[in-house]
Amino acid sequence: MEEIIVTGGVRLEGSVKISGAKNAALPILAATILTSEESRIRNVPKLEDVGTVYRLLKGLGIRIEENGNGEITIDPSGLNNSEAPYDLVKTMRASCLVLGPLLARLGKARVSLPGGCAIGARPIDLHLKGLKSLGAEIKLEEGYINARARRLKGASICLDIPTVTGTENIMMAAVLADGETIIENAACEPEVVSLSEVLHSMGASISGAGTRLIKIRGVTELKGMNYSIIPDRIETGTFMLAAAITRGDIKIEDCIPEHIDHITARLRDAGVSIEEGEDWVRVKGSPGIRAVDIRTSPYPGFPTDMQAQMMVLMSLSDGLSVIMETIFENRFMHVAELKRMGANITVDGHSAVVRGVPSLSGAQVMATDLRASASLVLAGLAAKGDTTISRIYHIDRGYECIEKKLTRLGAKIRRIKGGELLRGS
Ligand code: EPZ
Repeated sequence: MEEIIVTGGVRLEGSVKISGAKNAALPILAATILTSEESRIRNVPKLEDVGTVYRLLKGLGIRIEENGNGEITIDPSGLNNSEAPYDLVKTMRASCLVLGPLLARLGKARVSLPGGCAIGARPIDLHLKGLKSLGAEIKLEEGYINARARRLKGASICLDIPTVTGTENIMMAAVLADGETIIENAACEPEVVSLSEVLHSMGASISGAGTRLIKIRGVTELKGMNYSIIPDRIETGTFMLAAAITRGDIKIEDCIPEHIDHITARLRDAGVSIEEGEDWVRVKGSPGIRAVDIRTSPYPGFPTDMQAQMMVLMSLSDGLSVIMETIFENRFMHVAELKRMGANITVDGHSAVVRGVPSLSGAQVMATDLRASASLVLAGLAAKGDTTISRIYHIDRGYECIEKKLTRLGAKIRRIKGGELLRGS
């Protein structure tokens, strides 16, 4: 099993370019199913989860050509299968994003029900409820969702929770349905907005993305897309934290500052200096870190995907910080690992009370989920001595070449496999 070893105590300095957003790429790749025309997508990040979607789409009969440096061509004219198998869905729950497009294009879909996930039960009941409102017949048989729809019909859908992929699934089904669909209490994340832009570029009639009310008027067919994936706001936030935690000075390029407004605001409250440009931010860590309280919430609130990373910074603050996780019911698994490094954290239900300590110490720790693994790398950068992180397949799901990017900023980080040193990837 591969592991990452981080030697802490180095101030990170220099500049880093942000890759395309995982959570924008996944629904956009699924949206290529909606047309028989060829699509061209640029700035696609090289991630495990993106590779899983490629395998899923190829299994449906879709041809994918990787042209190098993040550009791909997709030819969905050969779509001849409507099944997303268990072995793919179990590795990536976002595979369920093919449900809406398959129903819209083929009138049927058989998708394995995503099982549980480390951070929570993460049901997809709201996805299914929305698709049923559009006229789909949904049966759950042998761990699979069997969905059929002769013709999807527009409907008024009010989501109990502003689910991100739920909003995306329903949008992709509604764009080819008969009549108008209204989605109330829709998710407002930038990734939902970027999907809406892509669908619009394909000929869909869609408005309101980025607000809680999305309106879609179905059309009969869609064209191919030619689109560049937006930068990853969570990778951006993670590198901002790297600068703050190592008291370094990093210019983060190819990002969208307004997508990280809330992260910027909270880091400034904590005493971190942040300069903003058109497509870059410059983050300088300060000697003292002020304790701030954090409450995760749907966009534009503080993102749950940044909670673990922010907890590391608060572990080194000058006081007491209360971190409330309101989105997922089990997203504190990084706490036990951070405590092994000397952090002083007490979890009580959805809240974690973090008392700042003067320093963390390197230790052997285990990654439990994607963002927890990023927080352990950050903790290793600040800790005294070496931190060895196991199960790092989690981090490869969502961060492109993280060691290479951190090494370029001066970090001492390397990947090993069973004791031998691997090329820095
Ligand atoms: C998306 O997951 C992201 N993934 C997650 O990023 C992110 O943490 C999450 O949104 C919240 O921002 C992708 O976009 C691929 P939700 P998603 O549906 O859509 C409950 C990462 O690290 N819910 O908005 O699955 C659910 O259990 C990942 O990149 C239902 O109850 O999240 C959760 O408590 C992790 N029923 C809450 O809603 C449903 O049908 C929000 O989930 C759907 C969701």
